[in-house]
Amino acid sequence: MSEMETKIAHSVHELFGHECVVNLSRPEAAFGDYSTNIAMQLAKPLQQPPREIAEKLAEKLRTSDMFSDVSVAGPGFINLRVTAKSLADQLDADWSEKYGENSDGAGKTVVVEYPSPNMAKPYSTGHLRPGNQGWAAKRLMEVTGWNVITDNHLGDYGAPFGTWVVGFLRHSSNEQLEASGVYELGRIYIVMKAELKAEKENGDTALADEVQSWLLKLENNDEQAISYSQRFNSISLEHIHEMMTRLQISTDYEYGEAFFAPIGKQTVQKLCTDGIALQNDDGSIIVPLDDQGIKTPLLVQKSNGAALYATTDLATILFREETWQPDKVIYAVGAEQQFYFQQLAGLAKKLGLKTELFHLWFGVIDQLNEDGGREKMSSRTGVVLIEELLDKAELEARKLVGVKDISDEDVGIIALGAVKFSDFVADRRTNILFDWTTIFALSGFSGPYIQYAAVRIAKIIADAGEMSVEKDEYDYESEKAILLKLTEYPEVIARAARDIEPHKVATYLYELARGMNRYYETIRILDGDDAVAKSARIELLRKVHQVFVHALSILGIRVPSRM
Ligand code: ARG
Repeated sequence: MSEMETKIAHSVHELFGHECVVNLSRPEAAFGDYSTNIAMQLAKPLQQPPREIAEKLAEKLRTSDMFSDVSVAGPGFINLRVTAKSLADQLDADWSEKYGENSDGAGKTVVVEYPSPNMAKPYSTGHLRPGNQGWAAKRLMEVTGWNVITDNHLGDYGAPFGTWVVGFLRHSSNEQLEASGVYELGRIYIVMKAELKAEKENGDTALADEVQSWLLKLENNDEQAISYSQRFNSISLEHIHEMMTRLQISTDYEYGEAFFAPIGKQTVQKLCTDGIALQNDDGSIIVPLDDQGIKTPLLVQKSNGAALYATTDLATILFREETWQPDKVIYAVGAEQQFYFQQLAGLAKKLGLKTELFHLWFGVIDQLNEDGGREKMSSRTGVVLIEELLDKAELEARKLVGVKDISDEDVGIIALGAVKFSDFVADRRTNILFDWTTIFALSGFSGPYIQYAAVRIAKIIADAGEMSVEKDEYDYESEKAILLKLTEYPEVIARAARDIEPHKVATYLYELARGMNRYYETIRILDGDDAVAKSARIELLRKVHQVFVHALSILGIRVPSRM
């Protein structure tokens, strides 16, 4: 409870001899700064009309200098106005370098899995959201006290490998591979996909069989197959790392599907012995999940004995349990895999695991086509490559800041800020529209708008230089809206972390930035001779700046040194 909430709870205790927990909420500004329905909650236990309880409580609260106005409304709401000074004092009391953070997750471990791209193709915009949302999840868990382990669950197993080898032998060469690396692999993959599709339509299987034979060779540790696999994977992995570095995301571990496939197959055998998994007539193996309320069983092994996506995930769950004993595992994966992750959670329960498997799902990124309609970003021309997107973002960032001499690093920070922030402008479950004008709009709900607000504050603080702090004499009435916003921050983090909803942090940042702009309209911070006012305001600006930097860091965004 905040100081105010504690104060109200104390008053209830003094008046009625009753213990309670008070949660203040924020009503519309016209009603007050805070409001509480505690009188309604107490009506039953105290056997008194709520309005009467509210009147008595309000009278008592009016005697405290914490509140400048206390009124009772409707059936028994209590609306409160606080003095700006008491808000400033509360903020001072709560302040630290980690302001906003809490220790809800103390003693608990979470594994956060992102961005988990597939090896077969160049990193596409399809893996932008898993990276952004996954990183925000990691940060939200960190700032709420969890022990956080991050893992990049690479899609490095299965069909792509066979497709690559056959495609390489038929359509490529060492020279081409050396020259174009992962793009050559991507090209081969697309060509092969088309050929395989055509073959299937003709009812042939020669090419598909060849792909399978290479997969089998790899499973049997054939030397040539291993050498191809290592070569292709290292090209692909190097590219993935390069892209992650550009996106400024990283993970502690990188256990890919290939690592888990053999363990998964052994586990499936064990599950069969234990009667948890069942073999079908065609040889395939399933785990029935009806006892978990899920009608469709999970297929954990193909009829030909090959491991599946689910086989590797089965092994992954058990490996994590053994290695880290996590209380929670967060998977940053798109909405299309929702049912699969429900099955996976059912499987984990069935195996007796206590770990909560949390599917952090999100919608797709849409873009506008020529006709003005929405379409999935990666649908039209195949894939939109991440590096092309980031290159363009850097050009846009340059345009935005104009000819001013700004370092490449700052331009990169602004570009990335714009791209990443767009991921958080709405609830993650909705599809988002990627639009170059909106994401760079200096006057809208955008990364650069927030970054600019932070840069502007830093500039004022720098211009102020060293100032002695005499803020005790200051009443903060002009700063009240900002103070109210700052005292809200810890609750924003707590709420955002509960269901991993980083857009709540983004919305908060926007409101804070807007609040600051309104403030500048009324107050010339460094003008005038009032030294007390100046020093108090600069002190407050330092706090606002810290919150900007902190909240942006949750979204994986940095503040440029100028813009
Ligand atoms: N590689 C997969 C994809 O790109 C995502 C992996 C998700 N993680 C998992 N444990 N299944 O769709």
